[in-house]
Amino acid sequence: MKGLFSRNGRVLPYRRAMVSALDRGFLYGDSAYETLRSYEGRPFLFREHWRRLRASCARLGISFPWKRDAQEAFVVGLLKRARLKSAHVRIIVTRGEGAIRMAPERGLRPNLLYYVQLFTPLPASLYRRGAAVALVGLRRNPIESLDPRIKSSNLLNNVLASIQAGRRRALEALMLNSAGDLVEGASSNLFLVRHGVVLTPPLSEGLLGGITRAIVFRIARREKIEIRERVLGERALRHCDEAFITSTLKEILPVRSCNGRLLGNGRPGPVTQRLGCAFQRFRDKWICRASGR
Ligand SMILES: Cc1ncc(COP(=O)(O)O)c(C=O)c1O
Repeated sequence: MKGLFSRNGRVLPYRRAMVSALDRGFLYGDSAYETLRSYEGRPFLFREHWRRLRASCARLGISFPWKRDAQEAFVVGLLKRARLKSAHVRIIVTRGEGAIRMAPERGLRPNLLYYVQLFTPLPASLYRRGAAVALVGLRRNPIESLDPRIKSSNLLNNVLASIQAGRRRALEALMLNSAGDLVEGASSNLFLVRHGVVLTPPLSEGLLGGITRAIVFRIARREKIEIRERVLGERALRHCDEAFITSTLKEILPVRSCNGRLLGNGRPGPVTQRLGCAFQRFRDKWICRASGR
């Protein structure tokens, strides 16, 4: 595996990535994380990811002593050292190492981990034809439990949902919340299109505020495509004309079918395609600016 790992500034080869078995991130999933893409050796939307990471840590009560600019420069250096331009970057902040007991001791020192590895894109055919997703039985954890708006590494619920989807040969697991409304994928946000209007569940339904989701709102408005947050029951899937999912690694990925049933006519629709092209323009402009071209 081409890549590098860093723990509190100490750099190791990717394969030798390690934390203590007493790290609460390992013991309890007591940590927050971010997944970023880099283009031309620059971490895409670092500010937005750093802001969300800081907010997740604040919600979890994990201290966060690092400065953004210095850390962004560190990531740029790490990518350079790894000779990676197009990379998948993961940042993890764990609460730190302590005794094996549920309640953390006071004054633990958080650990900051970076993993950079070569980015492997999904097959281009998936973007042309759309992906299959599965609406799984497992529900997204409610806001009153571990709030899905916190990007924590306590991901077993999402892991189990992904396993259920994999058994049905689907790329992504869609989940309902405890009220039975659609919320999001195991690692993506969900959008439906009906009569030319883009619909997506509001954050108050219990889902992560995706960085790509926020970009979709921006570019939809710029493209004069109507976009609304709306509570979406399971039936909305049957009545939509188009569907797509978004994430940092998938960007805007059209959805062809859910549980083996075609959504719309089963082909990436015109609104999804327009948003996909607008997203690419947004990203390419950002790359030009970041690389000073
Ligand atoms: C549960 C969940 N929802 C949505 C997303 C999409 O978020 P972003 O666009 O910030 O990558 C992710 C990304 O990993 C996720 O894990």
